Amino acid sequence: MRILCSAVILAVVMGTVGCGSKSDTAQTTPPAQPAQGGQAAPAPAAGRQGGAAPAAAQITVAEHSATMKTIAQSIQGANKSLKGGDTATATTSVDTLATSFARIETFYTQRKKPDAVKLAQTARSGAQDALAALKAGDAMKAQTALGTTQGTCAQCHKMYREGDGKTTPYAFNAASGITPP
Ligand code: HEC
Repeated sequence: MRILCSAVILAVVMGTVGCGSKSDTAQTTPPAQPAQGGQAAPAPAAGRQGGAAPAAAQITVAEHSATMKTIAQSIQGANKSLKGGDTATATTSVDTLATSFARIETFYTQRKKPDAVKLAQTARSGAQDALAALKAGDAMKAQTALGTTQGTCAQCHKMYREGDGKTTPYAFNAASGITPP
């Protein structure tokens, strides 16, 4: 019976029809897989690029852009609310800010950009510190922590962003090496 399984030639001739892969057809790997034919299909998926990241879907460039807009709104909102003494609203904005930067962090982790990951982490921890301060009723401390987050914007934009949002749209610059989707 196993003879059939190791019949690589047969598998090659018949295209992607391997033995034992009736249920999950290998749509993702149509080209050139004959070399593995000798094994009795131990793990169908997994281990595509080194195996570190599990199954999380890649965050797209479009989502990155949308998240940046959310970030800009939340930090502006937070600053305004803090100035006006509205800590409840500030808390909501800062919470969104922290969540958004966590997403940005994941984006750059997925694209293997450690320098940007670091900046996103700094931004997120600033927002988290601000959140903690707000919950403790310390608005001044929250403002200072937000400053940490705010300090990352220009740094990362200088590194990876191009465009001015007016005559040319904001986008990843060539040096970033980041391309859609
Ligand atoms: C780790 C990198 C990084 C950090 C930190 C960062 N940004 Fe960005 N941001 C980018 C890149 C790259 C772009 C251009 C690509 C895009 O628009 O998605 C961008 C674009 C933007 C845009 C334009 C979005 C659009 O597509 O119209 C805004 C607004 C923005 N960022 C605001 C901020 C603010 C405010 C902060 C700080 C609180 C910040 N960003 C921090 C990388 C970063």
